[in-house]
Amino acid sequence: MKKPKIVVANWKMHLNVHEASLLLHKMDKRIHDHRSVEVVIAPSYLYLQPLSLEVDKRKFKLASQDGYYVDEGSYTGAVSFSQLRNLVQYSIIGHSERRRYFNEGLEVVRDKMAAAIRNNITPILCVGETSEERHLKETKQVIHDQITTALSDLTSEDVERLVIGYEPVWAIGGHEPAKPADIEEAVSWIRYQIRELYGKDVAEGVRVIYGGSDEPEFVEGIMQVDGVDGLLVGHASLNAEQFADIVQGVYLSSLK
Ligand code: 13P
Repeated sequence: MKKPKIVVANWKMHLNVHEASLLLHKMDKRIHDHRSVEVVIAPSYLYLQPLSLEVDKRKFKLASQDGYYVDEGSYTGAVSFSQLRNLVQYSIIGHSERRRYFNEGLEVVRDKMAAAIRNNITPILCVGETSEERHLKETKQVIHDQITTALSDLTSEDVERLVIGYEPVWAIGGHEPAKPADIEEAVSWIRYQIRELYGKDVAEGVRVIYGGSDEPEFVEGIMQVDGVDGLLVGHASLNAEQFADIVQGVYLSSLK
């Protein structure tokens, strides 16, 4: 069976609860239910509970943007994956904004991966190089370190169901994604790492998606890149028309 494509809306720290509900409603009107494309919404923690009551579960799945790696205890302000269990199907883990602004190192990301999985939540692991690392030609090394550490406590069955987002940090928040050739190189390097660690079948099972200035006009070109299974969308996911166009573009690519 062909793997379904996946499009993730990362709303980051935007919207209030009314705006979030309205945006979901607008998306619901514009987006059709396609079996070949999973659409995942990652709002603020605060809105997961109310949106879970409103959302059409056949059309949309919910994700958290993070989670804490301890299941329960005195950790003021934290939200654990065990608290997210049954509320979300996916969690974004290791986003570059977490790594950068919240000082999340490789080991923290590794522990979050294991915590999500033991709570039956599928991680969407984000990897990618900063612009400085890119200029120093360290992209492959950075991705290698991020992947091998993040997966180090996981079994091959765990890894096979993962989603891995290649998000070059320098392409986030702009209007120009990475070039298809760069995306292809990074995506095939990600799969190569997984093949080395877990074998060919697992590497082929993992869905690898691209994030960084995904806007409707770029979808066709990005989805043509060999090995890309979907998109991780930031600012364009805050606009229902643009996001619906992106989902439609991914759907069209799934027919090929
Ligand atoms: P933009 O689409 O705003 O570049 O954000 C990408 C991203 O960080 C998604 O996780």
